[in-house]
Amino acid sequence: MLIAGGSQSRELAKKVARHLEAKVIDVMCSKFPDGEIYVRVFGEVGGEGVALLQSLARSPNDNLVELLLAADALRGAGCRDLIGVIPYMAYARQDARFNPGEPLSIGVVAKLLSNAGFSRLLTVDMHLHRVKNAADLFSIPIVNLTAAKLIADFFRKRYPDESFIVVGPDEESEQWASKVARELGADYVIFTKERAGPSEVRLKAIGEVKLDGKTALVVDDIISTGGTMAEAARKALSAGAEKVFAACVHPVLVGQAYQTISSAGAELVVGTDSVESPISKISIAPLLAGALRLYL
Ligand code: R5P
Repeated sequence: MLIAGGSQSRELAKKVARHLEAKVIDVMCSKFPDGEIYVRVFGEVGGEGVALLQSLARSPNDNLVELLLAADALRGAGCRDLIGVIPYMAYARQDARFNPGEPLSIGVVAKLLSNAGFSRLLTVDMHLHRVKNAADLFSIPIVNLTAAKLIADFFRKRYPDESFIVVGPDEESEQWASKVARELGADYVIFTKERAGPSEVRLKAIGEVKLDGKTALVVDDIISTGGTMAEAARKALSAGAEKVFAACVHPVLVGQAYQTISSAGAELVVGTDSVESPISKISIAPLLAGALRLYL
């Protein structure tokens, strides 16, 4: 089995390869002066099963094209089986035509990925809300793994004496907040969210929420601008929480996201390495390695 890491997931690819005692192959990616992407795969892949890792955060369009080109390069070089590992799936939040004239963006991305030469896809905590099952979008098998247990393990080991209550900042986050709470053996509360602008959100509690003396662990799938987490941190503190920790699966971290959340009072902001970032303290490598053992 060979592990190939695209430009967004090179470190993660090395970690997964270590877990599997597999060889890493290099995927070189650069840009032509006009912005087109050039990809070249190095190493012997003929007859081998290959897992190609590439996260689609931050420059999603370039990262997606790089992934499609790398898949074609590996197929062209004669690999036997090709699994696409997409730790962060871009465009999943546009999972409906919210207004007349809009595309179903995740449907378009799913079509591209389903026809790119992969035999199967793995992803992690894909933003599924209106579409409940990733398999409904793709015409090849896709497995949506969850990092909830890894997030809970991180907090349990690092803060064994903390009295946690898990907070989901909006209705969509309940699926992640509830899983982390279950793993921690803690209760959870969910706020509701109204967007006042691209990075401005208002949260409301459903019913009376009292967090007196508790450590609020705010859990969401994505931190983008940090507006949602920051507002949740402020709400948790004003509901009596003693301190606030913020955790996400995908630290996309646009602009000043980290500072926005810290200055709202969160003592700690962490995410996984589904998106490589300075706060990626929780590795999903064991989760991916476990799944690849089953499929490659
Ligand atoms: C959207 O519903 C997601 O689950 C996140 O809550 C959202 O992407 C976070 O965005 P931001 O960090 O910009 O508030």
